[in-house]
Amino acid sequence: MANIQYVKKFLMLLFFGLLCGYFSNAQLSEKHTYFSPGSLWLDTNHEHINAHGGGIFEEDGIYYWYGEHKNKNSLAQVGVRVYSSTDLYNWTNEGVALSGSEDPDSEITIGSVIERPKVIYNEKTQNYVMWFHLELKGQGYAAARTGVATSKSPMGPFTYLKSYRPNAGQWPINFSEDQKLSSASDNKLEWWTPEWTTALKNGLYVRRDFKEGQMSRDMTLFVDDDGSAYHIHSSEENQTLHIAELTDDYLGFTGKWARIQPGGQNEAPAIFKKGSTYYMITSGLTGWAPNPARSFKATSIFGPWESLGNPAKGKHSNVTFHSQSTFILPVVSKTDTSYIYMGDRWNPKNHIDGRYIWLPLEINNGKPEIKWQDTWQLQESTPAE
Ligand code: GAL
Repeated sequence: MANIQYVKKFLMLLFFGLLCGYFSNAQLSEKHTYFSPGSLWLDTNHEHINAHGGGIFEEDGIYYWYGEHKNKNSLAQVGVRVYSSTDLYNWTNEGVALSGSEDPDSEITIGSVIERPKVIYNEKTQNYVMWFHLELKGQGYAAARTGVATSKSPMGPFTYLKSYRPNAGQWPINFSEDQKLSSASDNKLEWWTPEWTTALKNGLYVRRDFKEGQMSRDMTLFVDDDGSAYHIHSSEENQTLHIAELTDDYLGFTGKWARIQPGGQNEAPAIFKKGSTYYMITSGLTGWAPNPARSFKATSIFGPWESLGNPAKGKHSNVTFHSQSTFILPVVSKTDTSYIYMGDRWNPKNHIDGRYIWLPLEINNGKPEIKWQDTWQLQESTPAE
């Protein structure tokens, strides 16, 4: 009798287990039809997307999402991962686009820091060009370099070429003759004092790094309508943004560059253009912790950039809905262009679990606005081919 009871119990448990398995698989294999900011975002393999600090490149109706492959910690153990999608909701893991190197002498050796990769296409050389923030192994964030790699396919593999401290030996276009002259007190100033702030705004670190090249940490890329490309990066000890023109092949700097918001402490730049106006979203400077985003606009890429305040509106806008900007994606549909704010909700205790905050960005009264949505869809269910 007792045995029959056990068999019955076993069969019931088995049936229940199979039922649960069936439903969870059915749920997993269902296609995503909307964005759910901050939720686990499973790829077509049912794994949380691992493409942090990302950027998107679109070609022939296929979107490629490049981002930092994170482990529990933030050092590059793998490299840059790439996912593909035709609808922006469902992403297929296409593998590692740029691998960290096994060679201990390589600048991108495993254990270096590879952050915020962005990819653009160069018509002339027919190269896909990736730039990323690079910190050399064992040096924390001291190196402050930007690295470049190329590939003949958007899927990679990308081949690492070199890294830069941008614009060595070149003064910014918005720098006066006076500002080029060092002052005796330059090296003696104590951080955060009023004298230091004034000196910083007047180019203290531009002068310090003139010969070796300017620091480059959080960065993004932007290609203008005429094909000119720009590298936008946090420089001067993260106190000032620089916008620098890239050479025709997008693999180096022309030496034409400008300072944006000297002493403004802008990080995480994301830039887009609507009509003839350039817009930029940035964050403040609080590491992995979120802070109020900032927004700017300009009629020339080199500025002046007008400050428009925090684009995030409503509850939790003071921490940008617990996110930090990484990219603004224009989505061109049959009737319109809409914009997606892409941000990272970092999880420094377990980086691989960092979440993605994608929200609609609208321009209202000439200002970018981002509002929270628990779930949302693009206006047209399928973007234009
Ligand atoms: C953030 C930056 C991230 C990462 C982090 C390291 O401010 O936006 O990309 O560099 O600092 O602490």
